Amino acid sequence: MRVLSGIQPSGSLHLGNYFGMMKKMIEYQENEELFCFIANYHAMTSVSDGKALSQGTLEAAANFLALGMDPEKSIFWVQSDLPEVQELTWVLSNFTPMGLLERCHSYKDKVAQGISPNHGLFAYPVLMTADILLFQSEKVPVGKDQKQHLEVARDIAIKYNNEYGDVFTVPEPEIDDNVATIPGLDGRKMSKSYGNAIDLFQPEKQLRKQIMRIVTDPTPVEEAKNPDTCNIYQIYRLFLDKEQLADLRKRYETPGLRYGDVKQELFETIRDFFAPFAERRDELLADKDGLRKILETGRDKARYHANKTMRKVRKKGGLIY
Ligand code: ADP
Ligand code: TRP
Repeated sequence: MRVLSGIQPSGSLHLGNYFGMMKKMIEYQENEELFCFIANYHAMTSVSDGKALSQGTLEAAANFLALGMDPEKSIFWVQSDLPEVQELTWVLSNFTPMGLLERCHSYKDKVAQGISPNHGLFAYPVLMTADILLFQSEKVPVGKDQKQHLEVARDIAIKYNNEYGDVFTVPEPEIDDNVATIPGLDGRKMSKSYGNAIDLFQPEKQLRKQIMRIVTDPTPVEEAKNPDTCNIYQIYRLFLDKEQLADLRKRYETPGLRYGDVKQELFETIRDFFAPFAERRDELLADKDGLRKILETGRDKARYHANKTMRKVRKKGGLIY
């Protein structure tokens, strides 16, 4: 099965990103044909600082590679290294009814927030469609917020195929409802925009500070506590196996547990869990040319597949004469 997904380069990474999405992608490479890219063209709809975008792109690549993306087992590249995707975007624009884009929630939400929309924001789902169709992707794992964009991609693929024959694989979304929303420090969904995130890669002192900020209830030490409503427990459980989880539950249910102690343990657990990844990330970022080489190899592998599709598209569309 050919699986494809793109991730916008977005500065720091938090536990929600890792447990909600990256871990799953990294697991896919074992048994599926995985295509994974850094969606830096998409990021241009919200980042207008070139330096920040190029630095963010390298960091996003290093993050993924450090966490286990294996460029031998997968095809891993940076979106803008294959400008072919822009050519396909233009072709597909001619199969995209305005109404289809006008109905997109993510676009409408941004307009409702008062953002003055430009064409990039409006055409965002067409570029995303091109990302998917260029590689004849079968399965596209995305979060719930991207579900409608997948429907757009399917609509466009079907419209094009009706006109020109079966050129594109019609992709299936994979929206995993089992991937629970990872809660943040205050119990709401962990998100950069809520300021309630625990970052993966940061100095130890800062990590400890973040964890100490986890919001807890005022149950006194000498009373039993409820793990199911405790924000520390909900985060801690991501790192524990069944047995460890049962042990922790028992401690909650026994009077005497101090939230401060559990926070300290959680801090040490997170620190130790990500320490080897952080080390690898630093190594990758210390050798930017080496990192670029890895991405070039990914680009070349991806280009082979992109060319296969684009040859057909150019021929069908009459762009070869
Ligand atoms: P943020 O909300 O911090 O801006 P992004 O929207 O950049 O996060 O998230 C990138 C991906 O990480 C999303 O597609 C989603 O799959 C995953 N993700 C982010 N936050 C969470 C969370 N709290 N729980 C589960 N998955 C998450
Ligand atoms: N729009 C997606 C997001 O913000 C990222 C993305 C770009 C993507 N192109 C894609 C995801 C193609 C899946 C397939 O999360």
